[in-house]
Amino acid sequence: MQLVLAERTPVAEDTLRLRLAPASGQGLRPFAPGAHLALSFAGLERRYSLTSDPAGVDYYEIHVLRVRPSRGGSEYLHEQAQPGERMDAAGPFHAFALQEDAPRSVFIAGGIGITPFLTMMAALERRGRSFALHYAARRAERLLPLPPYRHGDVHRYSAADGVRLQVPELLAGLSPALPLYVCGPRGLIESVRQCAAALGWPAVRVRFESFGAAQRPGDRPVLVRLARSGLSIEVAPGRSILDALLENGVWTGYECRRGECASCVTEVLAGTPDHRDFCLTEAQRSHSLCTCVSWAQSAELVLDL
Ligand code: FES
Repeated sequence: MQLVLAERTPVAEDTLRLRLAPASGQGLRPFAPGAHLALSFAGLERRYSLTSDPAGVDYYEIHVLRVRPSRGGSEYLHEQAQPGERMDAAGPFHAFALQEDAPRSVFIAGGIGITPFLTMMAALERRGRSFALHYAARRAERLLPLPPYRHGDVHRYSAADGVRLQVPELLAGLSPALPLYVCGPRGLIESVRQCAAALGWPAVRVRFESFGAAQRPGDRPVLVRLARSGLSIEVAPGRSILDALLENGVWTGYECRRGECASCVTEVLAGTPDHRDFCLTEAQRSHSLCTCVSWAQSAELVLDL
């Protein structure tokens, strides 16, 4: 499917709302709340939660935060993409499902992690189902404006103003019987999962969606050697090992690109991985890594590819 960038609108600090219309003039597929789209532009593929009306077929909307340092996607969309540009798109994909009949739902959003919840909360609002949103950002200017909700309580947190989300206290007051959704940076998701585990909640009670690969301070280039094909690929920080493999014509499976599904798991024959996934056990991590998000502590990794 080809889409055309129709509008770009600043909606919060460092955040654009992009409206994408069908290039063919035909209608777009409706989607379920929480769905995302895979967009290809400037030689990159990135996934974004859909934030427009799920029933609408005239256009899709996404929100894009300008990330610093950027792996290329947010920088391109903020600095270079202009109305009229065509982009290939796949989806919508549904990997973060809403339980619409729950009597009450709780959402925890960190920064741009609010995006899948916009359509979820709208769906609950339409059904008259109660929900609470705990929405945290580094600065209040980064919080997206939200519509008034009749059935939802919204709690905003801004670290710069000293109003911090306290995950242990929040979870201690929740019932594990209600669905809890988390989306945001890795630290937030891990904090929620650890607190839930400490409270004895089954792991499946916490439904989460992460942001995927992100460069960390101190990341150094890694030389990835492929034992079977004999290829050697230098991967710079800010790119994922998976992207480097695919760009060099190496076939390897993948799906979520966020370290959640284990589709990209690859045997490590030598070197020390820096694991950044949410899905592998410690036993699996002892001999393999998720190429979509993980990095290396050593200068080289030898993979069984
Ligand atoms: S593609 Fe899902 S964990 Fe890597």
